[in-house]
Amino acid sequence: MQTAAIAFDRFKPLRDDACESRIVAAKAALGRRAVILGHHYQRADVYKHADLSGDSLGLSRLATKTDAEYIVFCGVHFMAEVADILSKPEQTAILPDMNAGCSMADMANLAKVERVWREIGTVLDADEYVTPITYINSAADLKAFCGEHGGIVCTSSNAQAILDWAFARREKVLFFPDQHLGRWSGYMNGIKPDEMLVWDFDEPLGGLTPEQIRRAKILLWKGHCSVHQMFQAQHILNFRNQYPDGMVIAHPECNFEVCKLSDYVGSTDFILKTLQEAKPGTRWLVGTELNLVNRLAEQLKPEGKVIQFMAPTVCMCSTMARIDPQHLAWTLENLVEGRVVNPIRVPAREAELARAALKRMLEVV
Ligand code: 13P
Ligand code: SF4
Repeated sequence: MQTAAIAFDRFKPLRDDACESRIVAAKAALGRRAVILGHHYQRADVYKHADLSGDSLGLSRLATKTDAEYIVFCGVHFMAEVADILSKPEQTAILPDMNAGCSMADMANLAKVERVWREIGTVLDADEYVTPITYINSAADLKAFCGEHGGIVCTSSNAQAILDWAFARREKVLFFPDQHLGRWSGYMNGIKPDEMLVWDFDEPLGGLTPEQIRRAKILLWKGHCSVHQMFQAQHILNFRNQYPDGMVIAHPECNFEVCKLSDYVGSTDFILKTLQEAKPGTRWLVGTELNLVNRLAEQLKPEGKVIQFMAPTVCMCSTMARIDPQHLAWTLENLVEGRVVNPIRVPAREAELARAALKRMLEVV
C-alpha cells in the first residue's frame, strides 16, 4: 500500500533556486521512469527541466509515444487529461498543481454544451446537420461529447484542416470554446463573416433567430482566452508606424482584427519556428504569452533578431504559471519515494469517447 505523500507544505517555503537542485536530483533518481513534458508557455524555471516541449498538438502526439511510467505535465489541466487519454493504461499522467487550469476551457462545460445542442435541435436535427468541434483547450467530457456526436478535436495548429474534415461530413459546425480560433480558421477557409455567428450561451437560442441558425455555417461559442485578448489592433498600428520594416506574428486566439493585421498567424510552435527561421537582423512584434516571447527574445538576440512583445502590459498565462519549481520538486520527490501525487485519471467511458474524437484529429493531421 502506498504510504502518505510528503506534504506540499514542506516545499512551499523553499526558494526557487533551492528547488532547482532537488528537481535535478529527483529527475536523476527517476531516470527513464518519468518524462517531463513542458508547454511553450511554461515559466523559465520550470521549462528548463522539461525533457520534451511543444505546442498542444505536439504534446498530444508525444503523449502517445513516450514509454515512461510517469508523464509529469508542466502545462494546464486539459493537457494532462489528453496525456492520460492517449497514453497507455499502465502510464500515469500527473499535473504538479491541480489549480493549473485554463480559463478559456472553463468557459464551456458539458451541461451548457448539451443545452445548446438541444436548443439547436429545436431548429434543425443537430446530429444530422452539425459537427461539434472542440478546441483541445476543453475538459475531457467535452471531447467525449464530440466523440459521441461524430465530432472532433482541433488545436491551433490544425483548426483549418479540421474544419475541412467537418464540412466534408455535415453542413454546419458548432465550435467551442474559443470563438476567435473558430472565426479566424473559418475566415482562412473562405467562410464569410456573416456565416459565422456567435452563440451566446446565456441567451435563449444563443441570442439568434431560427433563420440565422439555419443560415449559419459556423456557430461560435462565446468564449475567449483572456491572455490573448490583451493584444489590440492599435498595438500593431503603433509598431508599424515606428518600424515599417518590422514583421508581426500572432496566435489565432487573438481577436480577428489583430489576426488580420498580422503578417503571420499560427500556433505557439509555428511562432517559435517562424522566428527561429527568420533572417538575422529582423524585428518582430509577437502576440502570444509572455514567457514564450521572452524566451525567444533571449534565444534569438545573438542572431541580431529583435523580438518585441505585442502588449504594453504583462500578459501571462497565470494559471499555467502555477506549476512552479516548488510543485515540480514536490511531485518528483514523491515519485522517487514511490508516491503519486496529483494523478489525472479521466473516467473510462469518458476517456474512450474523448479518445475517439482525439484519434479522428490525429488521423487528419
Ligand atoms: P498551442 O496549441 O499553440 O500550444 O496553444 C495552446 C494555448 O493554450 C494557447 O493559449
Ligand atoms: Fe488557456 Fe489562455 Fe492560458 Fe492558453 S493562454 S492555457 S488559452 S488561459
